Amino acid sequence: MSLDAWSRVMSDEPTLRTAADERGFNLGAAVDPNALRNDPSYWKTLRSSFNAVTPENALKMGPLRPSPNTYDFTDADAVVNFGVANDMYVRGHTLVWHNQTPHWFQAWDYTDDQLREFLRDHIHTVAGRYRAKIDTWDVVNEAVADDGTMRETVWYDALGEEYLDLAFQWASEVAPDADLYYNDYGADAINEKSDAIYDLLERLLERGVPVDGVGLQLHALGDHPDPESVAANIERFQALGLEVEITEMDVSFPADDVPDDPLEVQADYYRSIVETCLEVGCETVVTWGVNDANSWVANFKDFPERFTTEPLLFGGRYEEKPAYHAVRDALEN
Ligand code: XIL
Repeated sequence: MSLDAWSRVMSDEPTLRTAADERGFNLGAAVDPNALRNDPSYWKTLRSSFNAVTPENALKMGPLRPSPNTYDFTDADAVVNFGVANDMYVRGHTLVWHNQTPHWFQAWDYTDDQLREFLRDHIHTVAGRYRAKIDTWDVVNEAVADDGTMRETVWYDALGEEYLDLAFQWASEVAPDADLYYNDYGADAINEKSDAIYDLLERLLERGVPVDGVGLQLHALGDHPDPESVAANIERFQALGLEVEITEMDVSFPADDVPDDPLEVQADYYRSIVETCLEVGCETVVTWGVNDANSWVANFKDFPERFTTEPLLFGGRYEEKPAYHAVRDALEN
């Protein structure tokens, strides 16, 4: 047990998880199955501090499908079953995305009809398997480009915008009780991209597509979207009849523009987002990792610029950062 955790046992302070539970709030983390298996501090921190989980990569098509006719659910099961066993809210991420598809798939010379059948089978198999375990699915991830046009992905190129209709329909056929989400980045506040996503969701709803919610990733890596604008954005989606969740939050700074007190600035931003959620009735915030040592930010090679690499609530040795305390305070007050 870490010193932080031990000192809390000796005091009467609630853990982050208790504060979230008491508030009826889902506070989650993206989970790495290897850390879950190999690092007791990792799963103990996860279990005591969070009441929601999502596999960070294990449910993506590439990791799940080593060859055309096989699935490997080992890693996904590890994370999902951990969540179920520990009475956590489980988000499934993600059924349809243009990234992290299998290599053999990228080399496949399919017809449009074959691609449609392939996607239907994929969604039926994966969403069907977890129908009793996964509460909410990111059915489609990142379908809109940064300029607000539809992103030209393998799915869009073959099937047009209707691929979203089909994906949500197929998911609802096999997982009728799950909440079905559209998820994207860079659309957290009111801006050109979130305007386009708003229009897309409006079209889906008009066509009777079974979409329940919108996930705002909120990777606040360099830019920290204005909380008031995030609130207004959440409220306009809610006015369409949709739920909104913050699905992949992390907070860092451009590596060449770090404030004097980064941990405090980070804590204030986490606090303001959790407060915003509580005010507008968005009941879920998932951080994109458990602790800084496991964050994707240090390892991801495709960022256009460099960011500081301590974006989460727990430090590299699972120490509670100011952001941890800020989130707990926001949940308690
Ligand atoms: C990231 C993972 O964190 C990395 O480990 C992986 O190498 C790339 O994908 N938006 C998403 C997530 O929807 O799936 C991405 O996760 C981060 C950006």
